[in-house]
Amino acid sequence: AEIERMEMRKAMDLAAKLYHHVLMKTRYGAEARNYLAKRGVSQEAMEEFQLGYAPASFDFLLSFLKGRGFNEALLEKAGLLSLREDKGMKRYFDRFRDRIMFPIMDSQGRVIAFGGRLLGEGRPKYMNSPETPIYSKGNHLFNLHRARSHIRKEQQAILFEGYMDVISAWQAGFPGCVATLGTSLTDDQARILKRNTETVILCYDSDQAGQNAAARGMELLRKQECTVKIAQMPHGMDPDDYILRFGGTAFKEEVLSAALTLTAFKLENLKRNHNLHDEDDRMKYLAEAIGTIAELPLVVEQDHYLRRLAEEFGLSLDALKEDLRRAKKRKK
Ligand code: GTP
Ligand code: MN
Ligand code: MN
Ligand code: MN
Ligand code: MN
Repeated sequence: AEIERMEMRKAMDLAAKLYHHVLMKTRYGAEARNYLAKRGVSQEAMEEFQLGYAPASFDFLLSFLKGRGFNEALLEKAGLLSLREDKGMKRYFDRFRDRIMFPIMDSQGRVIAFGGRLLGEGRPKYMNSPETPIYSKGNHLFNLHRARSHIRKEQQAILFEGYMDVISAWQAGFPGCVATLGTSLTDDQARILKRNTETVILCYDSDQAGQNAAARGMELLRKQECTVKIAQMPHGMDPDDYILRFGGTAFKEEVLSAALTLTAFKLENLKRNHNLHDEDDRMKYLAEAIGTIAELPLVVEQDHYLRRLAEEFGLSLDALKEDLRRAKKRKK
């Protein structure tokens, strides 16, 4: 089985090199190059991330790798080929066709999987490698092997949803970024982050799906005892959109620096769900806010947020403290 995995890694490496060559050096890659350029991806980023293009052919990669002596069944197992059984006949064909290719690497920088994006609209927009003997989705983070030293040095990791977010951020001077690639964060991924850093800034898309994923991710990271912050962008934008439109300095100052702690984020969300101009509703908000603050492990943290509430609503700190004490009692 170890021999099989070695073969697979070799095939992945060759596939990545071939796709990259097609993108950078051939006329078949011209449209994909244009597409990437229009999205602001530099030549340098295409090199750094070894981006590629899989031509719109059913047997481009197949013939190439067969010519190098690889066995079709192994390539299918590695997720590079698909299989159709036709009247008892097995027919293999390229899994990735007419897609921009994003190699996914393991922590040592070896290619273990791919994501492939359509050049325009259509479904599925991205197609990823399946689970294989060398790739299990929940165990890897996109870009970790490049980002790790920066994450350790800065003791901060930025966590995105997508490939393009990582690439845009890298271009804008943020090398300590990784992505979960659309799926929600797993325990394993949270553990990997915790091994490398104290603080994780969650920077998910500002749509509902992204916000829900962020909320789940936060809980997992907290379980690992990471300090979690959540960065927010104007509605409808993702980090890639934001950086392209407003630039890296704005991203740093307006998004990363303004990232909220978990509690502040929860309080923000509560606030959004109440009409603070309505007295009843304002009281409900305060009660729920105090309930949230009561769950904090440190008294100094509780004090911090109580003071903020007192200031914001012109309330007596003593009254808030008394309510907090009662809320804690109720929870026991
Ligand atoms: P762009 O539209 O190219 O900017 O991509 P995006 O990263 O902004 O896409 P989106 O926010 O929709 O999704 C985030 C990530 O989820 C992507 O980078 C992919 O890794 C993954 N993803 C998105 N759509 C699909 C899909 O149709 N299939 C699969 N398997 N993954 C997807
Ligand atoms: Mn190159
Ligand atoms: Mn999204
Ligand atoms: Mn997105
Ligand atoms: Mn995007």
